[in-house]
Amino acid sequence: MAHKLAFIGFGTVGQGLAEILRDKHEHLKAKEHFEAEIVAISDFNKGSIYHPNGLNINTVLQVLRETGNLENYPPAPGLVTGWDSLRTIRETNADSIIEVSYTDVRTGQPAIDHCRTAFLAKKNVVMTNKGPVALAYKELSELAKEEGVYWGFEGTVMSGTPSLRMPAAALAGNEITEIRGILNGTTNFILTKMEEEGVTYEEALKEAQKLGYAEADPTSDVEGYDARYKITILSNYVMNEPLLVEEVSCRGITDLTLTDIEEAKAEGKRWKLLAKARKENGKVNASIAPEKIDMTDPLASISGAVNAIAYDCDLLGTVTLSGAGAGKVETGFSLLIDLINIDREKKLVNI
Ligand code: HSE
Repeated sequence: MAHKLAFIGFGTVGQGLAEILRDKHEHLKAKEHFEAEIVAISDFNKGSIYHPNGLNINTVLQVLRETGNLENYPPAPGLVTGWDSLRTIRETNADSIIEVSYTDVRTGQPAIDHCRTAFLAKKNVVMTNKGPVALAYKELSELAKEEGVYWGFEGTVMSGTPSLRMPAAALAGNEITEIRGILNGTTNFILTKMEEEGVTYEEALKEAQKLGYAEADPTSDVEGYDARYKITILSNYVMNEPLLVEEVSCRGITDLTLTDIEEAKAEGKRWKLLAKARKENGKVNASIAPEKIDMTDPLASISGAVNAIAYDCDLLGTVTLSGAGAGKVETGFSLLIDLINIDREKKLVNI
């Protein structure tokens, strides 16, 4: 039976998942035994539609492209329009909620309320919003467990690159004592551009915004706040140690000049914005700060918008993972892999 989905929010990431579901439908069915159907979409600005028997993805995307309003979807018996996010979560027949609403990362709202409402309605949630996982991990993970539903958030750190699932699944049994990573694509892109092309910080930031890497408010990227949410998520989920966002010391890249970058180059070093978390005596110390690292450090070769993360494991030593950290398809994929894993867990199929 197809996995029924309701989208809360339908911006770039949501549309990325919809396009993957449309374009890879046959492949997913044949290779993963995975079938999904979009039954509802509720977006604050683009309108809201619901049909219990499913919506046609091509028609949805075409209506949006041509009119900007989902409610121009061709009328059909049973089609409902105008439901807000909470009613869509509670009253549609969706099995899983795709939570990709525009959310204030400082408060985690409205995404935190969307998760609470979904779990209480016995619906799974998959999401890319960082706020709820960084700010309300304990409460929401316990609620999901109590209600017997799944909460997937792979895309909150390094988009679809399995920075959360790999340690949780493939490194299980190890104690992960230290994490070091380049977790923000925008700042890594800026530093790479400054070093390789000699462009100024402002020019490089403008280009990162044009390419869609930067957050709606790029202050979050360049001041290190985005990476700070991500290291908090890693501490909560991968290290199993509760950490508050405010406990992470944080410095961004805004003070770095072309001269600093050239001086580092002359010393055989490179500036990177590093996210670090170290577990000692059951407590995690974490920081975000620019560091001048040796060229021999595996993180020094990570350039452009690519992200990387190194996990120090007691049984396996250091394991380093690199890959996409942002992007429409890459983040859309993170939602898909969470959905595939919900189906695998429900059927008790081995991952
Ligand atoms: N603005 C973020 C980045 C996007 O540059 O990494 C993904 O969280």
